[in-house]
Amino acid sequence: MRVDVFTQVPHAFGWLTEQQPLAGVLGEQLELRLFNYRDTTPLRAGQIDDGPYGGGPGMVLRVDVVDAALEAAYGNDRPARVVALTPAGRQLDQDLVETLAAERELTLLSSRFEGFDERIVSHLCTDAISIGPYVLSGGELPAMVLLDALARRLPGALAEGSGEHESFSVALEGGLEYPHYTRPAEYRGWDVPSVLLSGDHGKVELWRREQSRVRSVR
Ligand SMILES: C[S@@+](CC[C@H](N)C(=O)[O-])C[C@H]1O[C@@H](n2cnc3c(N)ncnc32)[C@H](O)[C@@H]1O
Repeated sequence: MRVDVFTQVPHAFGWLTEQQPLAGVLGEQLELRLFNYRDTTPLRAGQIDDGPYGGGPGMVLRVDVVDAALEAAYGNDRPARVVALTPAGRQLDQDLVETLAAERELTLLSSRFEGFDERIVSHLCTDAISIGPYVLSGGELPAMVLLDALARRLPGALAEGSGEHESFSVALEGGLEYPHYTRPAEYRGWDVPSVLLSGDHGKVELWRREQSRVRSVR
């Protein structure tokens, strides 16, 4: 899978690319390319945004700047899926992550300040995605959230079997994962549930299913 991210701050992605699971799939299952709007802006002095028509505070990312960035990267062969990261988009969930992880190519557009000129979203993008009902200062963290969630779904990202029983997985009927415990079995009077120490795998499995159901309906 290839993911292209267009951003004003490409260096923000340095940390993420050094961490697992991304580091493990980079250059193998995942190709990540970072594009800075400033490198291809047709405007002088690296300008990429402008004040909003109608007045008001803040700066708006210009449609001609984003079009030029896409043109420089793809020419006329625009990618099938171009995603604007915006609080106004469809809220990201595991179903959407699974759908996007099946794509061969994905392009993510981030903005800062007041956000996108709306024509970017309506004419240059195929999707608009929000990572949640709150406002962040830029699209870099949302892009990283999506990248991390995608990387987990790529072959080889996780240890064998560890992604199969996670929260929202088919194996857990889309519900939340059951609780985990490790040593010590007793700490300050807080005991690990005895079924987990029983060695009875059938009972453990039943208990986990039940715990997953209880958590998921809360
Ligand atoms: C300060 S926000 C703009 C907020 C916009 N003026 C509004 O009120 O909806 C700047 C940029 O951060 C990104 N962003 C902020 N919150 C986001 C979220 N919840 N999901 C996805 N992207 C977000 C988007 O790229 C957005 O254009």
